Amino acid sequence: MESRKSDACSPHTDSAEHALRAAVSLADLARIAATRIEPTAWDYYRSGAWDETTLARNEVAWRELEIHYRGMVDVSKRSMRTTLFGREIACPLIVAPTAMQKLAHRDGECATARAASAANLPMCLSSLATTALEEVRAATAGPLWMQVYISQDRGFTRDLVARADAAGIEAFAVTADTPVWGVRERDMRNGFRVPDDLRIVNLERPGGPTGHSGVGMGGALSWTIDPSLTWRDVELLASWTTRPILVKGLCRPDDVRAAFDAGAKGVWISNHGGRQLDGAPATASVLAPCAEAAHGRGAVIVDGGIRRGIDMLRAIALGADAVAIGRPVLWGLGAGGETGVTRALAMLSQEFDLAMALAGVRSISEIRALADGLVRVR
Ligand SMILES: Cc1cc2nc3c(=O)[nH]c(=O)nc-3n(C[C@H](O)[C@H](O)[C@H](O)COP(=O)(O)O)c2cc1C
Repeated sequence: MESRKSDACSPHTDSAEHALRAAVSLADLARIAATRIEPTAWDYYRSGAWDETTLARNEVAWRELEIHYRGMVDVSKRSMRTTLFGREIACPLIVAPTAMQKLAHRDGECATARAASAANLPMCLSSLATTALEEVRAATAGPLWMQVYISQDRGFTRDLVARADAAGIEAFAVTADTPVWGVRERDMRNGFRVPDDLRIVNLERPGGPTGHSGVGMGGALSWTIDPSLTWRDVELLASWTTRPILVKGLCRPDDVRAAFDAGAKGVWISNHGGRQLDGAPATASVLAPCAEAAHGRGAVIVDGGIRRGIDMLRAIALGADAVAIGRPVLWGLGAGGETGVTRALAMLSQEFDLAMALAGVRSISEIRALADGLVRVR
């Protein structure tokens, strides 16, 4: 694997700073990040599994949903504020867990955490982070959650959860769509593995496996996951902590019900950004029935292809309590570290505010009340 481009992590050049200032959309940030992140890492970030059908569908499916806006509503005063697990947040937007953020910028997860905290938005730290969870916690006073891959050694995961709990992690999201790693063929061709100067620091143990050998996620990181997980493991996780548990990576109403039955306080409708089972449905097309199954039982988060404030509006109308974004945060991080992530989060929340005004709605509860009167399949 090639070494990382030095300029991805060095102070900005004038032209990069100018490009960041001139960016007006998440797509602009992606274009800047593509020039600053080392190509093998960029491929790792952008990849989907196999033919990348689900990856492509995720974005398209939101756009298929028409917004039947209301006219002549006084929208001069509006609020995006909402509450998740008892904590008020600025708007229904969460930083999804993405692995190895130091591939995008040397400040990695801490830069993301600071930007999310300043915006009063939750960040969910990946199990596969390249920064110790305590260090990330110390970098932010904002809401910080952690994603969990349950290890073949349950005792190890129990200790990790206890460590995170003690550090002040506020919720845990256990990933259900990764019994084995999806095959991202770009990574196979590139010989992707964890670069020698980075570590999967929260999961590695002295003398244990690392991500420095093998090719692709299946070759380098198979030791981080367990194909034998069942709902019983969600019950187990819920018995280890009093913090809320979310089950991440669901697309079926029966699985949503099973998650709550196992003790979850939230479900996260997701197909891992199209990186696991190619052919899985777009999250936009399964959100409504899943939200119906969750009704009255806990929080509903959705991610996958959210690129605009209007996508946030669509998701809330279909029953989500909040949306999460994966790649757009990496684009911001790659384009400009903490400043870039701040820009990505601000772009999306400002667009959401304007989308609310243009649609004739003033609050999250008003979007929910209008539901399919506001957003319909074309
Ligand atoms: C580079 C990358 C790494 C990811 N790492 C993780 C991870 O460690 N754990 C996890 O549960 N999901 C992971 N995801 C999935 C995200 O949490 C999220 O579900 C997905 O990115 C949302 O789609 P989007 O990128 O279109 O916004 C990752 C996604 C990407 C793109």
